[in-house]
Parts: sequence; structure tokens; C-alpha cells
Amino acid sequence: MIKIDRRDFIASLGGAAAVALMSHEARADAIEHYLEDRLYAQAEGSATGGSAAAAFPTAAEIHAAIPTRHYRRGAGGLFVATQPGQNVDFLAEMSAKPTLLEFFEKRFMRTSNHCLQSANKAMQRGVQEEVILACLLHDTIQELMKTDHGYWGAAMYEPYVPPITSWAIRYHQALRFFPDEAAGYHYPDLYHRMYGMDYVPPPHIQAAKTFAEGHEWYHAAREVTVSDLYAFDDTAKVTIDPFMNIIERHFKQPAEGLGFDNSPSAHMWRSMGNPDAPL
Ligand SMILES: [Fe+2]
Ligand SMILES: [Fe+2]
Repeated sequence: MIKIDRRDFIASLGGAAAVALMSHEARADAIEHYLEDRLYAQAEGSATGGSAAAAFPTAAEIHAAIPTRHYRRGAGGLFVATQPGQNVDFLAEMSAKPTLLEFFEKRFMRTSNHCLQSANKAMQRGVQEEVILACLLHDTIQELMKTDHGYWGAAMYEPYVPPITSWAIRYHQALRFFPDEAAGYHYPDLYHRMYGMDYVPPPHIQAAKTFAEGHEWYHAAREVTVSDLYAFDDTAKVTIDPFMNIIERHFKQPAEGLGFDNSPSAHMWRSMGNPDAPL
């Protein structure tokens, strides 16, 4: 049985303030990753001494752990309970004409805190409203699908937001794997933990990064990564209120409600509204 070194674990997550702001689910995930790391370290005979932060798994070790789970890591947060023995729960019923705000309240439970903090940081940095909106929305699609979330997210938001907003959501996915020290983005330890310390992004992600670098909107997608992971700030307990004006100005809320306006992504909203539909 692996024991958790509390101090070591908290330090690996960025300190007590960062842990205090994590949701229960995020903490549970973090414990899982921590234990996996310790397991790998023990298997290699290196579990004594050293911090968990120094014991990142390899990409091959992460791959080997696939059959140890009862779910796939790319599945949307609304659709799985990731803890052993845990079941999914009832969800609040959606209204007949759901708004973005309603999705934040009733479906974006796992992603909203992170996204609100990112948007708060972007607002403090004084970036344009369309990019603050991108930060606000950038990971909410992970409730529906985690794999390739930048592309899924861009597709879902495209009918409703300015082009630069969905562009930034799409390309943040590729850019987060590539540091841009001048912009203030460093490769996060979290990705060493999630993807493996020797992970190399696949060719399509490398191509997307090259494309984005040459694009006039590069700064927008880069901003999403800069305001992203470092949003764990103990003074940043934010609500959606400061962003309501930006949503009103730049998010085209359909009169029929999200999911019922026949847009190209209406089905994605419906799927999140009713994830218990069997087919
Ligand atoms: Fe993301
Ligand atoms: Fe994020």
C-alpha cells in the first residue's frame, strides 16, 4: 500500500492555496495521479527519498496504465465517475431555453472554477474582451469531451462567438505543449505528469502550432495558455458576474435556447443538457 506524504503531495500541486481552490474531483484526480507516480517510482526502485514532483512517469508508463481504469481519460467529465466505486449523480434539470449562464451553473461544475480564474487573470492582464471570453470558455467543453478539447470546444462555440474567440480556443490546445518564454508561458509540470516526461506531441499538433505561430491571432490563443494553468491563485475566488457584460456583448445567445436553435453545434449542447440519454 502506498502512503501519501501530505507535504510532498501538496507541494507537487503548487502549495496549500492551490489545493484549497481545487474541486473535490480535481483533488481526487490529483491524488490518483500522485499515487500512480509513486507506484511507478516504486516499480523502478526509486520510491525512497525525492519528491513526487521529480518522479514524473514516462509516456510508456502512462500508456501501460490504460487497462487499470474503468473509464477512458478522454471521456467528458459529465459522463463518467472516475473514482473507484463512485457512481454518477442526478443532474439539475435544464430549462426549455438554456442559456450559457445556465450551462455554467448546471453543467460546467468541473470546469467552471478553472475557467473563471483563467478569465479573471486575462481581465487583469487587460487583454481584449474577445480573448477574455475565450479564456472563460476554453475548457468547458471538457464536460462533453476531453480528447482534442480545443477542436471540440471551437466547434461548439463557433456559431456563437467572434471568430477570434473560437480560433483561440481551438489553438490553445496545440500551443500549451510549446513554451513561449517571451509571452510568459512555460511548459507546465502538470503535463509531465499527465502525458509523461518524454511525451512528444503528435505531428498534427506540431503542425497546428506552426500554423498558429504564423497567424495574426497567435497572441489570442497564446493568451489562453498564459492565463491557463497558473490560474490557481488563493485570492482569485471569482464568480461569473464580472464577465456578464462581456458575454452579453460577444456571445450570441439564441432565442430558442442553446441546443434548440438548429446551429451546427446544437447537438453538442443537447448532449450536455441530457447526458443520460442512452442513444
Ligand atoms: Fe485546455
Ligand atoms: Fe485550461
